[in-house]
Amino acid sequence: MLTPSNPTTHTITAALPYANGPIHIGHLAGVLIPADIYARYLRSCGQRVLFISGSDEHGVPVTIRAQQEGLTPQQVVDKYHTLNKEALADLGISLDIFSRTSSAHHHQTTTHFFKTLHDQGQLEAKETEQYYDPVHQQFLADRYIRGTCPHCGHQDAYGDQCESCGTALSPEELLRPRSTLSGAPLQRKKTQHWYLPLDRHESWLKQWILEEHREWKTNVYGQCKSWLEQGLKPRAVTRDLAWGIPVPLPQAKGKVLYVWFDAPIGYISATQAWAKEHGEDWKPFWQNPNTQLVHFVGKDNIVFHCIIFPAMLKAHGGFVLPTNVPANEFLNLEGEKISTSRNWAVWLHEYLANFPNQQDVLRYVLCSSAPESKDSDFSWKDFQAKNNNELVAILGNFVNRTVVLTHKYFDGIVPTCHTLTEVEHTLVTYIQKLPGQVGQAIEKFKFKEGLQLCMDLARAGNKYLAETEPWHLIKTDRERVGTILHTALQLTANLAILLEPFLPFTSHRLEQSLGMPHPATRQWPQAGSMALVDAGTVLAAPTLLFEKITDEQVEIQRQKLYNSG
Ligand code: 2FM
Ligand code: ZN
Repeated sequence: MLTPSNPTTHTITAALPYANGPIHIGHLAGVLIPADIYARYLRSCGQRVLFISGSDEHGVPVTIRAQQEGLTPQQVVDKYHTLNKEALADLGISLDIFSRTSSAHHHQTTTHFFKTLHDQGQLEAKETEQYYDPVHQQFLADRYIRGTCPHCGHQDAYGDQCESCGTALSPEELLRPRSTLSGAPLQRKKTQHWYLPLDRHESWLKQWILEEHREWKTNVYGQCKSWLEQGLKPRAVTRDLAWGIPVPLPQAKGKVLYVWFDAPIGYISATQAWAKEHGEDWKPFWQNPNTQLVHFVGKDNIVFHCIIFPAMLKAHGGFVLPTNVPANEFLNLEGEKISTSRNWAVWLHEYLANFPNQQDVLRYVLCSSAPESKDSDFSWKDFQAKNNNELVAILGNFVNRTVVLTHKYFDGIVPTCHTLTEVEHTLVTYIQKLPGQVGQAIEKFKFKEGLQLCMDLARAGNKYLAETEPWHLIKTDRERVGTILHTALQLTANLAILLEPFLPFTSHRLEQSLGMPHPATRQWPQAGSMALVDAGTVLAAPTLLFEKITDEQVEIQRQKLYNSG
């Protein structure tokens, strides 16, 4: 287990969400919540953590959104960056910085990175023919090209995918390609681009991933293996587009860096921005060989974080490579794929407005149904069931009974612990092992398991109260009831520490009601003890941790979804 006596530096990144729309539950379940649990846990273990994310503000999705909303790309990213940054803070995602890729600093860092690769001969220039819209006089990104799918005959397939049969396509495969900007048939025209020759990196990547990182999640390892075995080809890192970071070469007028070239460099520029603001050095987070760099991403980002970005870092030189990329699969919504463009999503900012002070309910539901090893589903009915049957009935019930009984029988003052019986001895042994077990689950990126282990503690607490029946005993043996409630309060205090990474708001409320010091940082090593709250401590007045979610509330959300999607 990680201990404060041997702190390591951890650079934790959460994939930068595109600033072409609000953040939804898919981003949260797949990336931001697991990353936050991991960062909070490491901080609680006394580790040195820098947790970063930001808005991915370039690329075609932003330009499409700008057209739809009648705004400039900059206006679009300004709008969603602000919205998303606030919403993430409200959800308690404990980012040290939520940066953005349209900032001047990010442009400088990326430009410098590209120039270094170029000057070191790490890029190749190549001329190819690409589709060109003769009316708008511009080359078109794959998403701006439509045509007939060669597989199913669908007439509106995109240049990168047919949405009807799901096949991944390249624009050259489309029959009768046309521009979505002008509707005109497309021409082929020559254009020069710069490529990252991934083929040159294949051999060390194979050794590094396939031999040295067999411990990576099976879904991640498997995807890498399949890419590496198919053979890597050079990838263009520039585009003919107006929105992005200009290619810093005199012969590249009108071209920008590919969004997937600049976005991961966003992790580095964010670190630099944070360091500057805090008077710190950014380099230990990226250049110290002992630093643990962990990228939290969704499955569609695996190749970029395991193969392409590491190749960029290696080609540049001087950077550490990721220690792990614990990618998740996808979260669906009511059985269908979440889609920003089709408005099929639960948007974070709307959830926060509709369910005030219930951040932890969303965190709980999304963690316990996270797509850790296969795609999973969010439904409003399940959201209600998990809240009512688990948070309210198990966790809330245990804590509430413990605190209410202490108020009722001992005026809210933590009673003294007298003789322990077998049932308490069993709990002592159980609680001693628990922080190690939960910690191990988190360190292995098994967050669902970690959360379930904490819920098992609440279950054990309920069972303890049900078996010892302090409400009956109070008539005959007040001292024994004191011991029982003392024990139940120690379990509650352990819950406050162990739940902090998962449910920080609940943890904080538990600490407040138990008179424990906050913040609950650097406390993990203290968990496992039955002496966390002293006898004589005055408890706060009991409040309900969770409230039932009604059928009506669920119906409102379902109607909203089905009417807008
Ligand atoms: O897939 C996405 O949503 C991308 N915006 C993720 C970028 S992650 C990184 F490299 F910055
Ligand atoms: Zn098709």
